[in-house]
Amino acid sequence: MQIHRYENQTQLSPFARGLSYGDGFFTTARIQDQQVLLLPLHLERLSMAAERLQFNDFDALKMAQYLMDLVLPEQAVLKVIVTREAAERGYAIPQNCRCQVLVSIESTSIEYCASHPLRLMVCQTPVSLQPMLAGIKHLNRLDNVLAKTEVQSLEFDDGLMLAPRLSTTLNSEPNNRHAHVVCSTQANVWLQMRGKVITPALKDAGVNGIIRQLLLAEHPNAEEVDVVRLSDFAKAEEVFLSNAVRGIMPIAQVGEQHYHQHTKTQQLSDWLKALAHD
Ligand SMILES: Cc1ncc(COP(=O)(O)O)c(C=O)c1O
Repeated sequence: MQIHRYENQTQLSPFARGLSYGDGFFTTARIQDQQVLLLPLHLERLSMAAERLQFNDFDALKMAQYLMDLVLPEQAVLKVIVTREAAERGYAIPQNCRCQVLVSIESTSIEYCASHPLRLMVCQTPVSLQPMLAGIKHLNRLDNVLAKTEVQSLEFDDGLMLAPRLSTTLNSEPNNRHAHVVCSTQANVWLQMRGKVITPALKDAGVNGIIRQLLLAEHPNAEEVDVVRLSDFAKAEEVFLSNAVRGIMPIAQVGEQHYHQHTKTQQLSDWLKALAHD
């Protein structure tokens, strides 16, 4: 395994498998006060993806040591991309192909757990269903590219992404209220209902986010449910999104539905901020 620090002009071969086939995975972490927040979870995510995608020479210890030795800025975003080195043509994983790691650090002014609530739309672009890849933060992110472009063109902050079979069957119906919600274009989605905060299970699609994992493991009221329907948003008391760079994000609006209360979301943001700095 080779680790490279990206410094503006790293040359990438057109045969690099990450570029040709999206053959790889990544993690994006927040650097705050010169520390990578929740580093152990990011390292675990990389190891898990390496195992599921058969990156057999991924060296978790070397990766951990490299990241722990970095001299970090005050506030930034760390991105670690793991791909396979360029090899002979063809999809199959080449024998003895080594993995290559690209590490970049980019300064950011994005607030962690901002209190300003966001406006969400419902994207036309559905997620791709693929149980073999579900949960992994892999390099095939075209669904998100198209969905986020919809969001930008309509000037929303983010958009919910639905499961495709339902969104197409229901295209003929006046609304898609029964559609299954999977995630937003760049975050996991949570609904506060009846004393619980629930998030959809990610059996066929979606990224098992770092904050999602943390909430499900550590917070007694957080729960994964088989299905979250668009109609559930009308019953939710609060809605929020989570990702590793932005933390917990309160939601003011999903389509026509408005949320005026963010008490639980604020509590969870405070909980996360305290935990992330431990
Ligand atoms: C589609 C999608 N879901 C969920 C997440 C949240 O993952 P994490 O908490 O690891 O940032 C992301 C993050 O970029 C994402 O792009």
